[in-house]
Amino acid sequence: MQTHEIRERFTQHFVNAGHTEVPSASLILDDPTLLFVNAGMVPFKPYFLGQQNPPFPNGTATSIQKCVRTLDIEEVGITTRHNTFFQMAGNFSFGQYFKEGAITHAWTLLTGKVEEGGYGLDPERLWVTVYLDDDEAADIWHEKIGIPKERIQRLGMADNYWSMGIPGPCGPCSEIYYDRGPEYGREGGPIADDNRYMEIWNLVFMQNERGEGTGKDSFEILGPLPKKNIDTGMGVERVACILQGVDNVYETDLLRPVINVAEELTGTTYGSEHQVDIRFRVIADHSRTGMMLILDGVTPGNEGRGYILRRLLRRIIRSARLLGAQGKTMEAFMNSIMDTMTPSFPEIAANRERIVRVAVAEERAFLKTLESGTHLFENAAAEAQDAGRKTLSGSQAFTLHDTYGFPIDLTLEMAAEAGLEVDTEGFEKLMGEQRARAKADSKAKKHGHTDLSVYRDFVDNHPTEFTGFDELETTSSIIGLVKDGESINQAHEGEEVEVILEATPMYAEAGGQLGDRGVIRAGETLLQVNDVQKIGKKLWVHKATVTNGGVDVGSTVTAEVDHKWRHGARQAHSATHLIHAALREVLGPTAVQAGSMNRPGYLRFDFNYTDQLTPEQLADIERITNQAVDIDWDVNTIETTLDEAKAMGAMALFGENYGERVRVVEIGGPFSMELCGGTHVKHSSQIGPVAVLGEASVGSGVRRIEAYSGMDSFQYLSKEAALASGLAASMKTPTEQLPDRIAALTEKLKAAEKQIAQLHQQQLAAQTAGLVNQAVDINGVKVLCSRLPEGTKGGDLRKVATDLRGRFGQDPAVLVLATEDGAKVPFIVAATKAAVDKGVKAGDLINVLGEYIGGRGGGKPDMAQGSGSQAEGLDAGFNAVKDALQQLVG
Ligand code: ALA
Repeated sequence: MQTHEIRERFTQHFVNAGHTEVPSASLILDDPTLLFVNAGMVPFKPYFLGQQNPPFPNGTATSIQKCVRTLDIEEVGITTRHNTFFQMAGNFSFGQYFKEGAITHAWTLLTGKVEEGGYGLDPERLWVTVYLDDDEAADIWHEKIGIPKERIQRLGMADNYWSMGIPGPCGPCSEIYYDRGPEYGREGGPIADDNRYMEIWNLVFMQNERGEGTGKDSFEILGPLPKKNIDTGMGVERVACILQGVDNVYETDLLRPVINVAEELTGTTYGSEHQVDIRFRVIADHSRTGMMLILDGVTPGNEGRGYILRRLLRRIIRSARLLGAQGKTMEAFMNSIMDTMTPSFPEIAANRERIVRVAVAEERAFLKTLESGTHLFENAAAEAQDAGRKTLSGSQAFTLHDTYGFPIDLTLEMAAEAGLEVDTEGFEKLMGEQRARAKADSKAKKHGHTDLSVYRDFVDNHPTEFTGFDELETTSSIIGLVKDGESINQAHEGEEVEVILEATPMYAEAGGQLGDRGVIRAGETLLQVNDVQKIGKKLWVHKATVTNGGVDVGSTVTAEVDHKWRHGARQAHSATHLIHAALREVLGPTAVQAGSMNRPGYLRFDFNYTDQLTPEQLADIERITNQAVDIDWDVNTIETTLDEAKAMGAMALFGENYGERVRVVEIGGPFSMELCGGTHVKHSSQIGPVAVLGEASVGSGVRRIEAYSGMDSFQYLSKEAALASGLAASMKTPTEQLPDRIAALTEKLKAAEKQIAQLHQQQLAAQTAGLVNQAVDINGVKVLCSRLPEGTKGGDLRKVATDLRGRFGQDPAVLVLATEDGAKVPFIVAATKAAVDKGVKAGDLINVLGEYIGGRGGGKPDMAQGSGSQAEGLDAGFNAVKDALQQLVG
């Protein structure tokens, strides 16, 4: 049975039983505590906790959720049961059916006849586990379902009590296992061997709320949830493995084809050696996870989600190389995994090109660093070997990691091949230091990496009310103060503090628009707001300095947006929308937004596009943008549903997670329509002039346009104009003729420089021609030692030497020439063929002279060159060369 059919049967089974079918949420759901959605229940959390009413007619739902778990990335492929990406099929009951319902539903689907929509598993092969004291579940399994007592096993908290690993809903669970037969391990049920007995479905009786704690079994249980609920998770890939009669999750219809492609590209065979197989599995597993992350809008980066994606993609490339792949492999892997996954995720079809582009760009970047890193590695290895060392230092390994993105195991492998060891302790120490730095850094910066637990309760229970679309001043109360990641009750003059208000008019950075600046006041007390950031899209955090007085949690305050700031922010953000619209008009719909940033007076807009823009295209974009300003369109904001917005043709940033209700900002009807939560002008003319500064590449396939808006545009344009007229005046030519005039001047200059160089050559030749006569005879060899005029360049020295040597014809002759060029003393030794035949070596003589003038050099027997720094030693040096020759030919 193909995987997509397993999915369809699951959904059908539960829809028939009255469950509402809920599509999978994006892997990047809006939850500050999770990097990726890692269980089917994550999107339903508020319903379990009783924070929201479940919007399902029967209080039950079913979904097949995309999940990513990347905790043990190094373990991938070592076992064959786990994947970093998997699909969790689940059914959920919010205060409706409980243990008996969940158990019966699961059983009928697993053992139901294939002709009747079931999976047709043999009931004799199914085993179950229950939580230690859960007699109720054990009885249902035995009495209602008929499983013999020997196949019902009891396990403790670590195995049969489920929570998300963080505070939230939790409860005892019951797991269903499939016995794969004696060839997979020993008898005795899941407690004896969890490879032979493979877990396929977990039924969680979600009834409590857990508090802080660590691990799977040491946390506090805060108390019962408002209702008794059901959360289940069936591993689609594991069921596929059983129903397709294959050994493990890498052999299913979803992953095996990628391994086949890898075999072809690397010329290595899968299934021969464990270590080799692990690499194949890494390729298959990571290709799928990487592809699904890109599908949901993640792009490779150095932090958070982007970093995980980067690691996954780089591990693929590296594994392929270690298996013997020579060139590029990413496109083939992506195409293969997209082929197998599209039947289950049809949305892949419309994104194929984008997915390949993102993955291939990362491959290109990594291959480049791999090349320079390999170079560095080879030098370091050679150095170590030359010095007789057997170890590569920790700092070299760290540089390879930090600058070239070499995972440590790659360095270890390469070192082993070169017969070296790596000081891993030193490496780990440097890594630890770097982590500490990064942590300190991010505390000061945004919330990318820090521990967000201090905001948790606010996010869950006190989302901020944003009033800033309608007013710039709001009176409200302080509900929280945070300093260095800790909650505090008071803040005093001079302190930097994060302020959480019940309601605020200040815009928090989002959608590319920077956070507002402004003040928070209460009587004489004044706080300067330097930035506003959002946590989990719901909580506004004002980063402020207390400049006068002090505040407490509970204080009533007035928050005021800096009017000038907001005016500029509106102009810049609306201008960004116009630039985006103009760009698509000029470049076509494939120029997709990749990101943007705007602050008062300035904006930048990144988009996917491979070619450099021509000056004409850039000028067109600027013209269309300013025409849109000039038309003075109304700027309308419309609140609607996501589907409506899409039907209207509104553009959304891919991978952004939009809620049910969305806001569409429309300028000039179809001209510009975008999903956007930012602040905008009311009429397009309020934007003022928009001046495009230019465009450039900011990474593979991504380009950036920068522009000024409002008064900043005016200032920029007026400065440019002043510059042009200043130039025109000094060139004594009308402004519009400046380009021609400058081109003509440049031409003239080039010609003049060429002529000067020629004259210089001629002059030098004339000056030096007579030198031949100054040669002295040393035992039949003519020797000429001479200083050339000061300022002669090294290159000229060579020309003169060649010219003079020619003048000696067949005679044995040696020339030693030097000059002073600034602080340098370039020198050269040349010998005719006849002299070389007599045993003269220019390369040796050059070092005799070098000794006297503080320099070194090298070359061939007939010509050697060097550079020194002590002109005062030249005469003595010349004599020494003559002495050396005397000895040689004497
Ligand atoms: N939430 C349960 C799990 O992830 C079903 O295993």
